[in-house]
Amino acid sequence: MADFDFDAPPASPLAWMEAWFTEGDGLDVPNPNAMYLATVDADGTPSVRTVLRRGFDARGVVFYTNYESRKSEAMSSSGRASVLFHWDQTDRQIRIEGQISKVETEVADAYFARRHPESQLGAWASQQSRSLRDRATFESEVEAMRARFADAPIPRPPFWGGYRVSLDAVEIWQGHPHRLHDRVRWTASSDGVFNRTRLYP
Ligand SMILES: Cc1cc2nc3c(=O)[nH]c(=O)nc-3n(C[C@H](O)[C@H](O)[C@H](O)COP(=O)(O)O)c2cc1C
Repeated sequence: MADFDFDAPPASPLAWMEAWFTEGDGLDVPNPNAMYLATVDADGTPSVRTVLRRGFDARGVVFYTNYESRKSEAMSSSGRASVLFHWDQTDRQIRIEGQISKVETEVADAYFARRHPESQLGAWASQQSRSLRDRATFESEVEAMRARFADAPIPRPPFWGGYRVSLDAVEIWQGHPHRLHDRVRWTASSDGVFNRTRLYP
């Protein structure tokens, strides 16, 4: 793995992020693309949960979810979110703060079409974050969706899709023995150019 010089970080964090995502994806762990998504509800209550990174480029990090879930309600009221990646094996962390936008319809359709048919039915059946009486109810709703779509291709539900978290601020952290860690933070200015600062760990 190439060395990352925290005394001379690149002008943009993108290349380091790509390298760390690629390296992380190669680790022998169940969900190397897992990330923690933090939101703030309309009343100021913070909340965090795990989602999976399904895309990344200069525009931000993409994940997919139910557009009527608690996280989606929080993001539509605040317009913002924070995301954290942590790889214990390499002692690395990436922290992102950004604005939320929905991914393009065609992108979400294409991603949904690649999902396993059972996951597609699950997306239709799950009223994510709503109250559910029991497991049998959920299973019978999945069966109802199976009957509804029969053998036809299952379209993306209108209430399900992707979000992109933009890269307004990115912090990259490399752990070292005795807590003498390396840490650098990039913040994007309004013209999209990053300012970077090395921080005490
Ligand atoms: C490893 C892992 C991956 C997950 N990936 C997703 C995901 O990509 N999208 C999603 O909506 N929920 C995912 N979940 C479930 C969420 O953590 C969460 O329970 C769900 O989205 C409801 O959150 P909310 O009520 O805050 O909206 C995942 C959970 C785990 C443990």
